[in-house]
Amino acid sequence: MHNHISLNQFISQENTKHSSIDYDLAGLLNQVAISCKRISNLVNRSGLMHILGAAGTENVQGEGQKKLDIISNNVMVKDLEWTGYLSGMVSEEVEEIISIPNQYSKGKYLLLFDPLDGSSNIDINVSVGTIFSVLHTPNGVTHPKDEHFLQPGTQQVCAGFCVYGPTTMLVLTIGHGVNGFTLDRDIGDFILTHPNMTVPEDTSEFAINMSNQRFWEAPVQRYIQECLQGKEGPRSKNFNMRWVASMVAEVYRILTRGGIFMYPRDQKDPSKPGRLRLMYEANPMSFIIEQAGGLSSTGYEPILAVKPTHIHQRVPVIIGSKNEVSQVISYHKGN
Ligand code: AHG
Ligand code: MN
Ligand code: MN
Repeated sequence: MHNHISLNQFISQENTKHSSIDYDLAGLLNQVAISCKRISNLVNRSGLMHILGAAGTENVQGEGQKKLDIISNNVMVKDLEWTGYLSGMVSEEVEEIISIPNQYSKGKYLLLFDPLDGSSNIDINVSVGTIFSVLHTPNGVTHPKDEHFLQPGTQQVCAGFCVYGPTTMLVLTIGHGVNGFTLDRDIGDFILTHPNMTVPEDTSEFAINMSNQRFWEAPVQRYIQECLQGKEGPRSKNFNMRWVASMVAEVYRILTRGGIFMYPRDQKDPSKPGRLRLMYEANPMSFIIEQAGGLSSTGYEPILAVKPTHIHQRVPVIIGSKNEVSQVISYHKGN
């Protein structure tokens, strides 16, 4: 006898508890989990399979793609296009909407994903991950266009991410809290190991890429300056700093022991209001963090309230422990 709850069983139990979860969503999530297992295996064996390093191509963001960015994207597309649960997909690695081939039936959901987050870390054996967001296909739509994907984060049905670290973990919200599952490689299943994950309200740990400091706006300059002043400064406590450069790892850390993560608006490239992408990075992570009791903001408005204008648009991100994010928001007032 065992008392393990698998991802499959968990989703089925949620299904009976909440009418918002139907069999299509359950099927979709199980299929996404299969993709994550496949990507986990590829990441794990990447050196042996000679799939490390750059692909020599650029994505729509003008960023160099790694071989594993493209491979992970193809895994997701091939695993999900035939299922009948989706009417379209959006991926960080593909400029246009990914439509469902004609021979397959169209479903009631839209899937948006970052197939491999933190891929600059892949060659140095640091955690990477997959981030995803699920939206409803608007009523009556079978061949969604960009405008059908451009729904604010508040409309998300479900969001999750998988982090390929020392263990492979899947973190999921369907709008009723946040749960974490560990991949048991021996049986090939995700097992509920971290039920009801919560973000502590207070923290003394911040994460930001300090090399961009000269480009930040005044409110973020002030906040970080005060953190660095520690016990002797206005905050009267010492802060610790972390920067993994994989959002999946940072958010996982915040779900475990609290913290604040920032990729704020800066003046580095005025055409880019931030580094992270709204639809498949900021929105799903904000949904998860808020479901765990944390907070997310651009500094000026809640991330989940941002009205999207482009499927690949960027947005400033300030997320994590409630009281610290509130502090940063208060510094933005009147800026
Ligand atoms: P991606 O690999 O999907 O392009 O995303 C990387 C993101 C995010 O995971 C991380 O927080 C940030 O970019 C790292 O940025 P820096 O390289 O500026 O540190
Ligand atoms: Mn990413
Ligand atoms: Mn990516």
